Amino acid sequence: MTTEGQVAIVTGGAGGIGSAVARVLAEDGAHVICVDRDRDALDGLAERAQGWDGDLAGRIEGVVQDIGDPEGVAACVRGVAERHGRIDVLVNNAGISGPARPVWEVPTDYWHDIFRVHIHGTFYFMREVIPHMTAAGYGRIVNVTSVAGKEGNPNSAAYSAAKAAAIGLTKSAGKELARTGVLVNAVTPTVIETRLVEQVTPSFHEYLVSKIPMGRIGQPAEVAELVRFLASPRVSFSTGAVFDISGGRATY
Ligand SMILES: NC(=O)c1ccc[n+]([C@@H]2O[C@H](COP(=O)([O-])OP(=O)(O)OC[C@H]3O[C@@H](n4cnc5c(N)ncnc54)[C@H](O)[C@@H]3O)[C@@H](O)[C@H]2O)c1
Repeated sequence: MTTEGQVAIVTGGAGGIGSAVARVLAEDGAHVICVDRDRDALDGLAERAQGWDGDLAGRIEGVVQDIGDPEGVAACVRGVAERHGRIDVLVNNAGISGPARPVWEVPTDYWHDIFRVHIHGTFYFMREVIPHMTAAGYGRIVNVTSVAGKEGNPNSAAYSAAKAAAIGLTKSAGKELARTGVLVNAVTPTVIETRLVEQVTPSFHEYLVSKIPMGRIGQPAEVAELVRFLASPRVSFSTGAVFDISGGRATY
């Protein structure tokens, strides 16, 4: 009941949560394709993986790709299918954040960038990967969204709206695929210690932490454990569902 022998794609796989997810999936025996636009970060991951117990480095493959480019995503997924003959797991995780601003001060480019990565990129990958999964009668898709998409953080409208859209996408696709063997679920972390939170202002960071009953931020490995379960055959009766991981902030 693990991902042993399976092929997984993790977008944003060179980042904090993405590389933690890649590690646990590789530990469980999967071959993991980390898709990221940051070549240096992918090189850094390859180097770090050399030090991981269990000879995992050979199970981690880096692919440089901007997930907001639909043709590039199609070519990337085709390449994975041709090289490996199967795609069992897709973790849509790539993401960006940005400066805290009220909605009436959000620049158009910033709004579009956030949607391009968080929702368009997620859609492009799902559209390309799902036919491979339905043909095989098996698949697990996990969308890394955010508690911001459930609650709407002030001064973070683009991010909150894009994450809410990804939750909607998860619910629709989960229902569409419910009888195919392909399960689609979302996780909604609150603040996790990664480079992404370095992009927010100290006061906004303080606000976010103040909302967490556990009084601390989360670690990428904690999110990875939840994703490990949702990416595996051990999840069997949940789809279109949203799994919270927020230290008690969102209890739904
Ligand atoms: N860190 C948090 O507090 C937090 C909280 C809730 C949700 N999330 C979500 O978790 C996910 C992972 O974030 P993280 O915290 O690990 O951040 P991170 O910055 O460490 O990693 C994000 C990765 O995504 C990659 N990426 C960004 N845009 C891309 C694109 N267009 N194409 C390909 N790769 C791209 C980056 O290069 C980076 O490696 C994101 O979707 C984020 O919104 C994070």
